Amino acid sequence: MSRAYNFGAGPSTLPPEVLEEAQRDLVDFKGAGMSIMEMSHRGKEYSAVHDEAVANIRKLMAVPDDYAVLFLQGGASLQFAMVPMNLLGPGQTADYINSGAWAAKAIKEAKMVGKVNIAADCGKEIPTRVPAIGELKLTPGAAYVHMTSNETISGAQWKEFPRTDSPLVADMSSDILSRPVNVADLGLIYAGAQKNLGPAGVVLVIIRKDLAARAPANLATMLRYSTHIEENSLYNTPPCFSIYIITLVTRLLLKNGLDSMFRQNREKAAKLYAAIDASQFYRGTAVPECRSDMNVTFRLPTEELEEKFVKEASKLGMKGLKGHRSVGGIRASIYNAFPAAGVDAFVAFMKGFEAANG
Ligand SMILES: Cc1ncc(COP(=O)(O)O)c(C=O)c1O
Repeated sequence: MSRAYNFGAGPSTLPPEVLEEAQRDLVDFKGAGMSIMEMSHRGKEYSAVHDEAVANIRKLMAVPDDYAVLFLQGGASLQFAMVPMNLLGPGQTADYINSGAWAAKAIKEAKMVGKVNIAADCGKEIPTRVPAIGELKLTPGAAYVHMTSNETISGAQWKEFPRTDSPLVADMSSDILSRPVNVADLGLIYAGAQKNLGPAGVVLVIIRKDLAARAPANLATMLRYSTHIEENSLYNTPPCFSIYIITLVTRLLLKNGLDSMFRQNREKAAKLYAAIDASQFYRGTAVPECRSDMNVTFRLPTEELEEKFVKEASKLGMKGLKGHRSVGGIRASIYNAFPAAGVDAFVAFMKGFEAANG
């Protein structure tokens, strides 16, 4: 079997031991005579898997008791809408920090629901960055403050979260569980699973329970956080297989420890940025203080060279390096499950490519 080094931004690489375990259990889950995809989501086998996924997230992130851990559908994109639908009441203002393409999508949805104040805007700046905490112009009494902890496309990441009087809401889709976060400092965290957590089809939401009570009475049942809190994310049929993979991924992370994961992520990113900085040929696209540990974005001298770079890397089994279609360039996504050996191989490739083309 040969596994590619998968630099894809999402869906992205999963730990091979998780895939192997899922493969072993696929046809007959623990002697049940059927796969986890074929059994009732209310039966004892799936219930154990579901409850373990919740418990593992609680343990890994030290989630306080007054917060709920939910597994919902509709991706992080539905959260762009659900957050304001539930938390932004009439006459209130929500503060949004525009750090790039994903923050902008969240802002677009919030504006359809209520009043939005843009607390800072560096969404279109090049080199890319996130705002400094001192730049934020927050509204006293805002319903909440929304941020995007890691801009997956631009490769800019908040290294420290702002402290806000209003509840802080963070889209952590592309850096969830890559580093420790103090959940109690936030009101709500959401993250699509398909980068650090598991397969697409499920979104993790961690919400302080009192915030769920704000939803207006006429909001549809499926769109209310309170529905999913009351039903332990089992109001309707959940994406059982995706949640099962999250159980395996988080079990492995618990074994290795989140601090150790964070250290490894920092080391992997530091190696790649060092290779970029050591060269006149490669040019990082994010300002150094905001460089993402998850999505390393850079340019080559010309678009033709970028195309050649991606093609040659792919031939050597390094896949998914093309930058997002909206910005071009190169993006190496090195999420939790991306192996350190892949970073070493890639750095060697970069050096060779520069020697041949620089
Ligand atoms: C930071 C961020 N937010 C939101 C999304 C959208 O997630 P989904 O496709 O699950 O709706 C993405 C997807 O890549 C993302 O990177």
